[in-house]
Amino acid sequence: MTTLTPVLTANWDRPDSFTLNGYGEYKAAKKALGMDQDAVIQAVKDSGLRGRGGAGFPTGMKWGFIPQGDGKPHYLVVNADESEPGTCKDIPLMMANPHSLVEGVIITSYAIRANQAFIYVRGEVLHVIRRLHAAVREAYEAGYLGKDIFGSGYDLELVVHAGAGAYICGEETALLDSLEGYRGQPRLKPPFPAVAGLYACPTVINNVESIASVPSIIANGADWFAGMGTEKSTGFGIFSLSGHVTRPGQYEAPLGITLRELLDMAGGIRAGHRLKFWTPGGSSTPIFTDEHLDVPLDFESVGAKGSMLGTRALQIFDETTCVVRAVMRWTEFYAHESCGKCTPCREGTYWLKQVLIRLEKGQGTEDDLTTITDIADNILGRSFCALGDGATSPIHSSVKYFRDEYLKHFEIGGCPFDHAPSTVWGNA
Ligand SMILES: Cc1cc2nc3c(=O)[nH]c(=O)nc-3n(C[C@H](O)[C@H](O)[C@H](O)COP(=O)(O)O)c2cc1C
Ligand code: SF4
Repeated sequence: MTTLTPVLTANWDRPDSFTLNGYGEYKAAKKALGMDQDAVIQAVKDSGLRGRGGAGFPTGMKWGFIPQGDGKPHYLVVNADESEPGTCKDIPLMMANPHSLVEGVIITSYAIRANQAFIYVRGEVLHVIRRLHAAVREAYEAGYLGKDIFGSGYDLELVVHAGAGAYICGEETALLDSLEGYRGQPRLKPPFPAVAGLYACPTVINNVESIASVPSIIANGADWFAGMGTEKSTGFGIFSLSGHVTRPGQYEAPLGITLRELLDMAGGIRAGHRLKFWTPGGSSTPIFTDEHLDVPLDFESVGAKGSMLGTRALQIFDETTCVVRAVMRWTEFYAHESCGKCTPCREGTYWLKQVLIRLEKGQGTEDDLTTITDIADNILGRSFCALGDGATSPIHSSVKYFRDEYLKHFEIGGCPFDHAPSTVWGNA
């Protein structure tokens, strides 16, 4: 499996890729609006599409949870908050191909019987917000949004809403609170958003890439999509290679491709260096090492090896990187972004940060390794939302694979990489 499968990224090279002219007519939306709503849901179920926002929940099944004939308004909310360290696929997708998202919004809203949709976009990315506004305006002008779309009698309004720059607002229920005008903090589940979501009404929340994949499924058929990827992780996805790679960037490929294959296409690790560790799906997914180069990047295979596919944010670190420093930096992020609602995460991330700063400076002791593992054990599974669990991933996995590197710090009373930044360090 060494080929790329550009679908979402196919027209990114066109100078006008972000305009309606560069994207083309909304043929898939037109086709979908001529279908029965349940047939649209069934097509997405049959395709095997799983959520591209991290957890991999089957998209068609999520849509099927929306109660019908309940007399309440239904909503679609697109999660475009993308704030996880390393994750960088939705923002370029919305910059280069916003119409695939808008067309996906129309098809999804129609299927779940929603007449109002929202795109909740990360507040810092003003350029993306402007581009989304322009795409939505073009779609309204073409008659693809608003009243009686394609003469089908179906009406849809779409609002682009900018968040205020908090990682926790990517968590789907915190996002809903933020969208309603409250402070963004996770809600207790159940009830799940499909039953009581935005304004206590049935709501589907999906990731940008999930929704943008829908037009291609409707246009080409469920079998076409299911024919790519693996049996349980079907289709294609955007793999974002960043860090110490010769050609970092977005590589759209079938799920199940390996890092070795992706690195071959990306020109390998930067010249003269070798792979030390990497994240398969952003900083919340346990790190891998060079022994995992041939793990198929699908939900099941990555899980079987002790990590998660997450958002396919492949952050690559070579032997010049101090793993303790990388983990300290990620932990500082989690401590900063913890919303404070629950004690294990609020207190735990704070103390993890303090101990890691000490360890990185070479001022720790072997007991500190037990302390960070204990703190992480008390966060994992005891936090109110997945932010807390995610904060423990770098801790547990780095101690597992690089214990010797932690020990070396207090043996020499400092960071070995400060003294000799290019020293080649073993993988423990
Ligand atoms: C702290 C935190 C941040 C998250 N950030 C995002 C995000 O930026 N984008 C996203 O799609 N999902 C994010 N998620 C996952 C969402 O809660 C949710 O699972 C996802 O939007 C569902 O979409 P999908 O089924 O299409 O993957 C985050 C979860 C947590 C716990
Ligand atoms: S786990 Fe962290 S981010 Fe999530 S509710 Fe608790 S304090 Fe807030």
